[in-house]
Amino acid sequence: MEKMDDASKQSGAFLKNLILSSVDGVIAADKSGKILIFNHVAEEISGYSGGEALTRLNIRDVYPADGAHEVMRKLRSEEYGGKGKLKSFQVDVLRKDGEIIPISLNAAIVYEEDREIATIGFFHDLRESLRIKRELEKTQLQLLQAEKMNSLGKLAAGVAHQLNNPLGGIILFTQLILEDYQLDEKVRDDLKRILKDAKRCRDTVRELLEFTRQTRQLMQPQDINQAISRTLFLLENHTIFQNIEIIKDFTSELPLLFGDMQQLNHMFMNIFFNAAQAMEGKGKLIIRTYLLPDHDRIGIDITDTGPGISGENLPYIFEPFFTTKEEGKGTGLGLSLAYGIVQNHGGAIRATNQINNGATFIIELPITPSESKGDQGGKQP
Ligand SMILES: Nc1ncnc2c1ncn2[C@@H]1O[C@H](COP(=O)(O)OP(=O)(O)OP(=O)(O)O)[C@@H](O)[C@H]1O
Ligand SMILES: [Mg+2]
Repeated sequence: MEKMDDASKQSGAFLKNLILSSVDGVIAADKSGKILIFNHVAEEISGYSGGEALTRLNIRDVYPADGAHEVMRKLRSEEYGGKGKLKSFQVDVLRKDGEIIPISLNAAIVYEEDREIATIGFFHDLRESLRIKRELEKTQLQLLQAEKMNSLGKLAAGVAHQLNNPLGGIILFTQLILEDYQLDEKVRDDLKRILKDAKRCRDTVRELLEFTRQTRQLMQPQDINQAISRTLFLLENHTIFQNIEIIKDFTSELPLLFGDMQQLNHMFMNIFFNAAQAMEGKGKLIIRTYLLPDHDRIGIDITDTGPGISGENLPYIFEPFFTTKEEGKGTGLGLSLAYGIVQNHGGAIRATNQINNGATFIIELPITPSESKGDQGGKQP
């Protein structure tokens, strides 16, 4: 008898050990909801200590609202893994501190001669796998976006090419008529109007061609802080920047990066202008430069205190011709151009919103260009 007791004691200890060291949270409760077993991982997931759980926690408190009720209902039904069982069911757990944790729950009712005496649940924390899933979805979306930008770029380049010559003709011949003929003042005004609009079209075409990398590139080592300062210097006198406080949060002595000064200027100018327009000429423009932890890229965050970008618009802002500005105020090319320039430099650009209003554009540029970006100075066919 003595021996037998020892063996059972040992196996009891062994079972207890098994439960306590399970990689999932294990919680058992009796019919009234009183906790009987509460292992280490259950402590981690729920935020309650084992002592607290065993003395004053009820299983119902582990779920938000009437989650416990739903779990019991499903456990007793046939449909979720057989009567008395629940398999890989996604539920929320309410932590002691109020945080909601997504869980995959495997649970069973423990019977003694057809009588329900307890329930036992295995709680698998889904936060990490959900995080990875979200990461994957995000990457997928980025890939999709890059592909879309690529085909949009090709389309735009094609159209721009087709428009370039006839536009040149319109401008040239309008100018010739204006110079060579004695014209009525009224006719002259109309022709000037034609010339002005044709030039506007030409500018748009130029931007499109630049967006699709059809213009010259001159890649040289650049001090990014200096490049930004130069762009700011050009803008500061513009009326829209008069009442905007510009804060330069620069990391000094950043490594030089290989880039095209003119293109970088153009990119910053577009982003700064957008910020100023979003803030309607008053607020703060904060520009931060820093070295990324891997030491081979430079990060630039451009934050404004405007209204931010609505979630609805956020996926489209880098597309050519996407604009929320009224007719004549914006063509929607600024950010697509910025996107193209960052791509030319082998970098990445994205936009996010600040919690308390305002948008941030985050640009990452590699210090040395990758091999595939070696088309310096050459016009593409
Ligand atoms: N800092 C910002 N805050 C809020 N919205 C912004 C900001 N920057 C860009 N946007 C949004 O993104 C859209 C696209 O910007 P983009 O620069 O490409 O075009 P645009 O400014 O409308 O026209 P364009 O630059 O051709 O004059 C804008 O119309 C605006 O809705
Ligand atoms: Mg713009």
